[in-house]
Amino acid sequence: MVNKLSHKLRSVGIVGLGSWLPEEIITNADLSRVVDTSDEWIKTRTGISERRKAAITEAASDLGTKAAQKALEDAGISAEEIDLIIVATVTPDMFLPSTSCIIQKNLGASKAAAFDLSAACSGFLYALAAGSQFIATGLYKTVLVVASEVLTKIINWEDRDTCVLFGDGAGAAILKPVEEGFGFLSFHLGADGTGGDYLQIPAGGSRKPASEETIKNKEHYMTMNGKEVFKFAVKIMGNASLEALEKAGLSKNDVDFFVPHQANTRIIDSAMKRLGLSSEKVYINLDKYGNMSGASIPVALDEAVKGGLIKHGDIVVLVGFGAGLTWGASVIKWFA
Ligand code: UT7
Repeated sequence: MVNKLSHKLRSVGIVGLGSWLPEEIITNADLSRVVDTSDEWIKTRTGISERRKAAITEAASDLGTKAAQKALEDAGISAEEIDLIIVATVTPDMFLPSTSCIIQKNLGASKAAAFDLSAACSGFLYALAAGSQFIATGLYKTVLVVASEVLTKIINWEDRDTCVLFGDGAGAAILKPVEEGFGFLSFHLGADGTGGDYLQIPAGGSRKPASEETIKNKEHYMTMNGKEVFKFAVKIMGNASLEALEKAGLSKNDVDFFVPHQANTRIIDSAMKRLGLSSEKVYINLDKYGNMSGASIPVALDEAVKGGLIKHGDIVVLVGFGAGLTWGASVIKWFA
């Protein structure tokens, strides 16, 4: 539903959350039978113990639809009320149509506009920032943001540098106007395209369309320079969080709860040190799910909220980084 643009920006917040994880669990021991790795190496270098894997028939829209249904239920609204669906994903069902249109059909959200957004592990934050603008300006009342990833389908299972890190999952959030002063207090988004080579899928797009050759060379799988991404991540998690706090007129001492992108416990530890946060204020679930790219933050946020760790009025910081390179952070005064 499109209203006339209002001049005063409305406060916008998350009023419902949902997540969905596929059933199959892949343990570190399972992986050590496929590549030259060990439970000990994976746990000490990353903090990951197991991850989820979608079924052969499951695509991003299947996981995303289930997460969205849970978020709708949590918010107590029907699919007909959604004005816009934004899906953050790097593993869309296909190039055309968009995964957001498939989810729109699955939900029966017949009044919703829909588009996909590609910002890798920062995708949920980019999508929250994008979606909240439509509500703040008065154009829309209800936006569904979904982050859904089926990374196990773009992993080279012969590459131990990457195959131990990633997992599948989806998270969703319903955005609506909230009481003034609550909801999103700030966003800080950034990108550095000069680091694009550090994480990529070389073939299958318009640069190198799929061919017998690209398939033979396994160029449809993700490649990563882990060391460079690690260095970038350690710097950017703290920087982006502090930038977002400053934009909100707050400092690191005001943070009640921190939900970081779940890539590596060593990266999260360095951000915690930088922000002076104790472990009770930080949500970590990457031991169970690995890195689910854009889905990591909404799944973690959903678990933290449902687990009673985030209360009305808490100052919550979300922060992520990923391929692109991209990064994003948001400060939220929790409304629900
Ligand atoms: O969402 C963003 C996505 N990406 C990331 O967040 C990744 C960021 N990077 C990282 O988390 C870390 O760099 C990794 C976990 C990927 C790697 O940890 P590291 O401490 O940087 O290890 P490394 O790359 O320096 O490798 C150390 C050794 C190497 O052996 P040599 O050369 O010292 O003999 C690797 O070949 O560990 C070896 N290695 C492995 N050994 C067992 C690399 N992967 C594995 C493995 N199992 N799976």
